[in-house]
Amino acid sequence: LFDQMTRALLVSQVSSAEATKARRIAATLRRAIASGQVQRGELLPSTREVARDQSVHRHTVLRAMGMLAAEGWVEVEPRRGFRVAVALPQDGQGKARGARQVHLARDAGLDPLPDAAVKLGHAGPDVRLFPADELRGAYGFVLRTLSAQAMGEAPIEGHPRLVAALSTYFRRVRGVTGRAVAITSGAQDAIASIAQLLVAPGDRVAVEIPGYPPAWEAFRVAGATLVGVPVDGQGLSVEALERELRRGPIRALYTTPHHQYPSTVTLAIERRAALLAAAARARVTIIEDDYDHEYHYASAPIAPLASAANADHVIYVTTLTKALFPSARVAAVASSEALHRSFLRLRRALARVPDALAQLALAVWIEEGGLERHLRRTCRIYQRRRDAMVEALRAPGLRRFVELEVPRGGLALWIRATGRSATAIARDTLKRGVLVFPEAALRLAPGDDAHLRLGFAALSPDEASSAIAVLRVALAG
Ligand SMILES: Cc1ncc(COP(=O)(O)O)c(C=O)c1O
Repeated sequence: LFDQMTRALLVSQVSSAEATKARRIAATLRRAIASGQVQRGELLPSTREVARDQSVHRHTVLRAMGMLAAEGWVEVEPRRGFRVAVALPQDGQGKARGARQVHLARDAGLDPLPDAAVKLGHAGPDVRLFPADELRGAYGFVLRTLSAQAMGEAPIEGHPRLVAALSTYFRRVRGVTGRAVAITSGAQDAIASIAQLLVAPGDRVAVEIPGYPPAWEAFRVAGATLVGVPVDGQGLSVEALERELRRGPIRALYTTPHHQYPSTVTLAIERRAALLAAAARARVTIIEDDYDHEYHYASAPIAPLASAANADHVIYVTTLTKALFPSARVAAVASSEALHRSFLRLRRALARVPDALAQLALAVWIEEGGLERHLRRTCRIYQRRRDAMVEALRAPGLRRFVELEVPRGGLALWIRATGRSATAIARDTLKRGVLVFPEAALRLAPGDDAHLRLGFAALSPDEASSAIAVLRVALAG
């Protein structure tokens, strides 16, 4: 899900000489297609062949193909290469095809991302701490006792036992009650479905700046025009949202109030009420992404917006990616009954049916207390890792390059680099195998680029020290 951000970083590393060569190759191919020398739907020579003919690196050809795909001249043919598009931009259909498809094609043909990178920017959990044997036991039980009914059609809203287990958990631990719950394949799946449900092409959708690009992408794919709302030390600026509302209607707001992504700030109490009221007045649906709820260290987690009395216009999305592991692909959406019905109708039409047996195994594990046990354990470990990373960044050799506030929760730090731009730092660390996300990658438009997001949970103390050593060199320039 973060691939695009990483790609943006990599693309910005490309030398201008290579970019010029790629543009030249793209121009040659564009002319060949426009003149009919290569026909619509025809497979193009392999990138390897083109690279040999033109005496350039294959990456340069891939880049050229990416440009042509973005413009709608070529399409990716999985495992075979590139094909000339059936409808060409010159047919006057380029515009009619809409920004959606062009946008989807933009990344086509880029190289796989480097695998070796230490993904310090991802702020994921340490998957090695997950008690896989417990889940294996739950799977074993489910498979041993598999009934004909369980092997029949899977319910679109998710397995009833997981829906029940999570509904109970949300009510007891988060105060989210009186809502219908549906299971999705992770938060991204939930956000993409919600976007498809709510957004008509051209609708304005408000997002936090800086914010979470994978969610933005789901709204863009649904045709939304994104409107940035700044975040400060108190969280999302409700005043700025109201200013945008005076400019025109806003269909939805995507927000991360508990630990704002990426700044880690918790939305101030006064702003919560103001936000709920402003959104209700202007008929803005709030999509609340509560993506690392339990990981809060200084006090009890702050109750979600969705737990407020007047929050029918809030759709609550919460993932288990941080509590379990990213590939588990489990999240839940808790919404009003009316929205839930439309949501399920869309999901049925798209056949977005989450895997029932995996859900059943997860439900069994949660019912046995596995989830809460694992959260208690990892919370303690992650708090220690947070403190260790803060200490490392405040060590004598480093502290003049870094300013930071210790986050009360979450799995990441948002540090301010005092010397160089965050993008320059991120490029340098990436060359040495450490991926961090600079502020510029988390904005809709150019703006401040002083901050970096660093995940502290996924790395062991030794791994974290090595990554910080790489960061230190880059910070110092
Ligand atoms: C803001 C935010 N939302 C959601 C997610 C998780 O999404 P998913 O459930 O699709 O893995 C993450 C992190 O991975 C995140 O940072």
